Parts: sequence; C-alpha cells; structure tokens
Amino acid sequence: MNKKYFEHIVHGGDYNPDQWLKTPEIIDEDMRLMKLANVNSATVGIFAWSAIEPREGEYHFEWFDTVLDKMAENGIDAILATPSGARPAWLAEKYPEVLRVNENGIRNEYGIRHNHCLTSPVYREKVREINRLLAERYKDHPAVKMWHISNEYSGECHCELCQQKFREWLKEYYHNDIEELNDAWWNGFWSHKLTDFSSINSPKDRGENHVVALKLCWKRFTSEQHISFLENEIAPLREITPDIPITTNYMRLYDGIDYQKMAEHLDIVSWDDYPYWDRGNNDYACCENAFNHDLFRSMKGGQPFFMMESTPSIVNWHNVNKIPRPGRTELAAMQAIAHGADSIQYFQWRKSRGSHEKFHGAVVDHCGHENTRVFREITKLGKNISKLSELTGKGYSSKVAIVLDWENMWATKFFCGYNNLKREYAKKCISWYAPFFKNGIPADIIPMDADFSEYKLVIAPFLYMLKDGTEERIKNYVANGGTFVGTYLTGVVDKNDLCFLKGLPAGELKDVFGIWAEETDSLPEGMENSAEFGGKSYSVRDMCDIIHSTDAKVLGTYEKDFYAGEPAVTENEYGNGKAYYVAFVSDDDFNSAFCKKLIEETGLKSDADFEIPAGVDVRRRGELLFILNFAPGETEILLDKEYEDFISGAKVSGKTVVPECGYLLLR
Ligand code: GAL
Repeated sequence: MNKKYFEHIVHGGDYNPDQWLKTPEIIDEDMRLMKLANVNSATVGIFAWSAIEPREGEYHFEWFDTVLDKMAENGIDAILATPSGARPAWLAEKYPEVLRVNENGIRNEYGIRHNHCLTSPVYREKVREINRLLAERYKDHPAVKMWHISNEYSGECHCELCQQKFREWLKEYYHNDIEELNDAWWNGFWSHKLTDFSSINSPKDRGENHVVALKLCWKRFTSEQHISFLENEIAPLREITPDIPITTNYMRLYDGIDYQKMAEHLDIVSWDDYPYWDRGNNDYACCENAFNHDLFRSMKGGQPFFMMESTPSIVNWHNVNKIPRPGRTELAAMQAIAHGADSIQYFQWRKSRGSHEKFHGAVVDHCGHENTRVFREITKLGKNISKLSELTGKGYSSKVAIVLDWENMWATKFFCGYNNLKREYAKKCISWYAPFFKNGIPADIIPMDADFSEYKLVIAPFLYMLKDGTEERIKNYVANGGTFVGTYLTGVVDKNDLCFLKGLPAGELKDVFGIWAEETDSLPEGMENSAEFGGKSYSVRDMCDIIHSTDAKVLGTYEKDFYAGEPAVTENEYGNGKAYYVAFVSDDDFNSAFCKKLIEETGLKSDADFEIPAGVDVRRRGELLFILNFAPGETEILLDKEYEDFISGAKVSGKTVVPECGYLLLR
C-alpha cells in the first residue's frame, strides 16, 4: 500500500525541447521558468524519435544530452519517455508492415500517432533497439528518475500478422480444440460451426460482428497484445536500469486495454486527467474524477499513482474549449493528491508553435514569459505542493469496494437484448460510488477477481458476466461474513457469454441472494416504473429484473405494471454474511438512501467528523485532511474541533468558509 519512489510530490509535465532545437536560448529560458514555477520534473522524449534517429541508424543524442545535463544542473528531474507512440517517416516507408491496418483490411498511410501494428516483429525490434540505446546512454544520468513508456497505448490492428497471432491466441485459449471453441461460441447458431481455426478473423462490420464471444476474445487478445508490446518495450530497460521505476499513462476508462491487468506489469500506474470542469455539472465532474483517482489508486493495492497529464488551462479537443475558473487547476491538483497521487503534471510545459496542439493550454504560453495568469497559478500551486512531501509514498486502502471489471465492461456493451440503448456500465459503477464519496468514505474500485476478504462491503453493479471462479468467491466472501450487493442482470453469462442454465443469478448465487430472477423488463426512454423502499418511492428506469424471493427478506417492491408488488430490493442472510439484490437500474437518490443503511450496518467510517456540504470532497491522506470545494460559490463547513491550517499555520475551528474553487488542508 505504501511505496515511495520520490522524496517530494512530482510537479512538472510533458516537455518537448525537441521542437525547439533551432532556438537553444528557449531551452535555457525553460530552465529559468521551471524553477520560477516551482516545477521539479519534466517528461522528455515522448514523440522525439525523428529528432533522435532522423535517418535509419543515424543517431543524434547530443541535443538530448544537453537537455538532460541542463535539467540535472537546475535540479529538474527527468521522466524519460520511450518514443514508440509515433515514428519517423523513414521507418514506415522502409517497413510498411509497421503501419496499422484498419478493420476493412486497408493499411493506413504514414501519419498521426499510435498508428502502429501491435504484432509487427520489425516494429517491436526497432522499439527495443531505440529503448536499449536510450537506457544504455542515460542509465547513470543524474536527472533520470523514471521511465514513461510510450504514450497512451490504444487502438487495434487488423493486419494479417495480427490475424495469425489472434488465431494462435484462440488455439491456446481453447486448448487447440476447435470443437471446444464451437461449443463456447454456440456456433451451431446460424450454421457457424467451424472445422479449423484458420477460418477465424477479427470481428468487423463486413464480416462477423454478432458473435459476442468472438468480440470478447478479440478484446482480450488486443489488450494482451498491448501488454506484450509493453513487455517488449521494457525488456531492455529492466535489464539495463533495474532500479528505475516504470510507468505508462492511462486514459480514464479507455476500454481497449484491461488496465487492471496491465498494472501488474508496471511499477507505478499513471493516468491523464482531463475532466469536464465548469460546463454545468461540477458536482458530477468532481465525483467522477474522484472515482477515477480511486480506480487507479486501487490498481496496485492502494499504492500512490501519478497524474501524468492534466491541462493547466484549456484543452483544444472539446467542441468548445472553455477556460476553467481560476483556481480550478489547483483544486483539481489537490483532489488528485488527496486521492493518492504522488505527482501533478501537465500537458504541457511550453505550448508548441505549430501543428495540431498549438492552442492547447500550457504553463508557458506563446508569449514566452511568466507574466500570465496561468503561470502565476501554477507557480502558487507548485509552492503549495512543495509543502506536501510528507505524503509521498503514502497510499491507502478502503473498507468498501465497488467492482468495476474490464471484461464485464466489454460483455455488458456487446450483448444484444433487453435495453440496447442504456447499458452505461461505468456510469452505474460511479453512481454506486457516489454515496460513499459524498459521505467522505473512501472506496476502492476493483476487478471481480480481486481479493474481497479485507472489505466490509462489496458492491458489484450489473455483474452480468462471471469469470471462472467468481461465483465461488462471492459465495465464500458472504459465507465468511462479508456484505455483498448485486443488482439487475447479475450472473447471467460465463466468460464466453454463454448463458447460465437452471435459473439466474448463476448457480449457488441464487442461495446467496435467496432469490431467483425470472424475467427482465426494459423501459423505453420516458417510461418509468417505481419501487417503494423505506417508505419512499424511487424511479425505476432502463431495465429491471422480475424476481422471486426464495429465502430473502423483501425490503422494497415495484409499484406499477403487472409486477407491482413483486420484490425489487431484497436482503438475505447467508452463512455469516448478507447479500442484497437491487433488481432495477437505480438512480442516485435510491443509491444514497440504500447506501446510508449499508454504511450504518457495516460501520463504515467517514474521513470527516462533520457534515459534508454538497459538492465538497473530503479525504484524509496521511495526517492531512483535505476539504475541497467544487460547489458553485463559497461553502461553509462546521468543523468538529480545532485544526491547524497546514498551509497558513493558523488555527481553525467551528464555522469555516471555503471559497469557491478553494480548499482547506487541515491537520
Ligand atoms: C493526451 C496525450 C497528449 C496530448 C494531450 C492533449 O491524451 O497524451 O500527448 O495530446 O492529450 O490534451
């Protein structure tokens, strides 16, 4: 849970001196400005391949040496990136196989980034080669503190090399037995029985796109290809620089890679955080952002993570790029730290002069000097961050977990039936996280195969697919005293998307919940049912199971339609624990009321011993209590006792005002 790689909170961002080699005075100026902005780190080398190797085998490391030396002289740490996210034109021209092929079988032309085949032996070798050169050259460089592998791995390739690899992958997954695959994919349907693995291709619109099991396997395969690409990249680094930690930057809930699995291959998880602030729903944005931080903190057992990118002002890729309110960047940074971040980093340090991202926010604008609002904000933030060194390396785990599982995310998206318009798996997970967030109770976000035993409460929204062993693990968790919450469409299919027979939820989960689910109703937009619970009526939208209690106590019932009076919320004692079933897609109101009961029953503790107003995130990390005001306007907190304001040293107690976009750090 605790893991320390740096002595201070890392403060910096993506830095592209390779774009400024013709104006070396700018690089000197950057050193001055970085120190002025209280920046202590810069991520260098991302997308710098053509500056390092402009022609095959012709290397130019001299500029890189100079930059790293200057950084070391000025006390700026380097997070050294490998350049595989984009390549020089010569590489694609000489070895066309490195370029990605789209699902229609057409090879992309050279251009953009992330445009590479994940299988190509040539590309893998070229990446290993350049990474080896970087590691050998800079292994003892005093500036280099961490590896940043590539950039935001993503996408997929459908070339013949990938198809071959996919078939090999399937052979292994199905024990080289095509009949096992036929059974698992239910290939008797529409006469799809296969006699050989060679008939299988990646899913695509002009080919097979209705077999969910194929789509799941393709996702698993592609995700594993990304992981094996990562392993290929890091092999020389692990060999030459075994003591330098390795990370790669994730993108929120990007569904193309099972990030939870990939985390096992990294020393530190990091992610790029671009929330939608000040666009009308900061309440949701701050909860969603907190959820993501907790997701990434949970990926390595509560260990601190890195916020590898964020914008110091605007982005350029919204339709309309509104400037977040002054103070928002600092508030968001403090939220990241409260939730376990050991770094606050920006995209990017200096705004590029041309091309696609020239209007994206940066610490140093085109004007080139420090007299800007953004620069002043970052400078102040850097100063406050520099006081938080005592937190570095300090992680934490929680007593409540929300299950969010990548394979289930795929499965809930792909199946055809019930409400095809409203699946929104991740949103459902966030909606079950929200009540804990609002009450200042930290929550972990875990995959279905994580160890449940340390949690008092596990909530698994929409757990449609069960991986091998999950049924048994839920059963044991509850039997041993855990409290488990399942919802509509729980335990419907196995990892191949084959439906469980003999009643839902699968197998012995019927005993665990004390119910069986007979039918699932879907409600078109604008049509609602409702469920009574604790004397109040709550909306039922999108989907709901019609269930029967076999042993469970009925806590709530439907109020309309032919299933009015049938159970909608149940509670069942099983072994030493309890299992609840919420049979419908519940909204935030219901989740709040229901989780209040769960919090009381399981004795979960808030980090705050005072009332938390709406829009305020309260979180304890180490000795510090963070009170972060995301609400519109100032907010008032009634503190339970006297605290010391960590930044100013003043004593605070009783009614305390937190300004808009403001925060308190209390001890
Ligand atoms: C990130 C990416 C950066 C930059 C940034 C702009 O997703 O990693 O390279 O493009 O977006 O917001």
